Amino acid sequence: MNAMIKKCGLRAIINTDVRKKFREKQPPTFLHPAKVEPVKDFHQSLPGYKPTPLVSLANLSRELGVGNIYVKDESDRFGLNAFKVLGSSYAMGKFIGQRLGLADGELTFDYLCSGEVRKRLGGITFATATDGNHGRGVAWTAQQLGQEAVVYLPKGVARRRVEAIEETGAKAVVTDVNYDDTVRLVVKAAEDKGWQLIQDTAYEGYERIPRWIMQGYTTMAAEIEEQLEDNALPRPSHVFLQAGVGSFASTLLGYFVNKDKEDYPFTVIMEPEKAACIFASAQAGEGEPQRVTGDLATIMAGLSCGEPSPIAWPILRSFADGYVVCPDYVAARGIRILANPLGDDGKVVAGESGSVGIGLLSLLSLEKECAELKGKLGLNEDANILIINTEGATDPVNYRRILWDGRYPLP
Ligand SMILES: Cc1ncc(COP(=O)(O)O)c(C=O)c1O
Repeated sequence: MNAMIKKCGLRAIINTDVRKKFREKQPPTFLHPAKVEPVKDFHQSLPGYKPTPLVSLANLSRELGVGNIYVKDESDRFGLNAFKVLGSSYAMGKFIGQRLGLADGELTFDYLCSGEVRKRLGGITFATATDGNHGRGVAWTAQQLGQEAVVYLPKGVARRRVEAIEETGAKAVVTDVNYDDTVRLVVKAAEDKGWQLIQDTAYEGYERIPRWIMQGYTTMAAEIEEQLEDNALPRPSHVFLQAGVGSFASTLLGYFVNKDKEDYPFTVIMEPEKAACIFASAQAGEGEPQRVTGDLATIMAGLSCGEPSPIAWPILRSFADGYVVCPDYVAARGIRILANPLGDDGKVVAGESGSVGIGLLSLLSLEKECAELKGKLGLNEDANILIINTEGATDPVNYRRILWDGRYPLP
């Protein structure tokens, strides 16, 4: 049953039915850990691959009255400031592999970038729509492959995010509409111009590439598993995952459900106020995903999406335990906390879409008004919470405003 709670400016839904109905649901087999090896092998063949750090914040855990806080820090993935390239690079590799009839074992990046492959493929223009990070991943991968990229971005995108895409040689097109309408524009343009679409959300008739993108993200889940094991850290009891279209969150959730079965971590999905389409879908219940429209304005640009991916939503609906809508001040607080670590905890540079989990955990733990919600989520001294910092300071101007000028304070 869905219980709705409103506290500390947060809106939350807890779905107690998902655990009871676990056996009625089918975990997404394409995200099974048994399928991760070829994905990891592919990423390991990319220039500059190394696992991103899993930072354990022991002092902050004590301060917040929880067992452990682990932050998987994606701020320096391949030097690109965000996790997203894991998905785009893998999907573009698979696309080329399939077109040339290559087996998984032949999908090494060196080979894909070779003159031989370029000759066999001819010239391709890859196209996508993005709030910034996914498009940068597509543009970077196209550059490495010696191919072209065209990247559409919604109105209001930060200048730095556009520049980072242009620096790869890709063409950036800033539209005058929101993210979801920008996706529709690039889909149409790609059809008209013969571009190859690499989109991180699905729609009817377009599922193969978004699935590969999601499989690309499983490398991150596998790294987390290895890092917990190597450091003999207790397994997470909770995972906080932020969502735009939901591809990222459903991938990690799908991976953990396949791995741990009924014992998978208690999973909370976080979204910004004006782009809470997953929350709206959860509120509507078991049916089709719901969309939200308008300008979707938020400092969490990567989460500024109004329409859930139809591949992601069924996974979230079947297995996510909770959904929380977070105003922008939650993300701003997370940025400040991660930039100012307690004692010898490591510093983490988090962008607005990356910091929301720590911001939320801190509010739930420290604000008296949130105590009831904290209790319902089971956040006590035995809780080990996994949070993903999905991006670094991808909008450095806003990052500084938040840190130096205290922008977006708690109300
Ligand atoms: C930094 C960051 N975090 C999280 C997300 C959310 O991913 P998804 O749209 O798959 O839900 C995005 C999406 O662009 C992002 O850029």
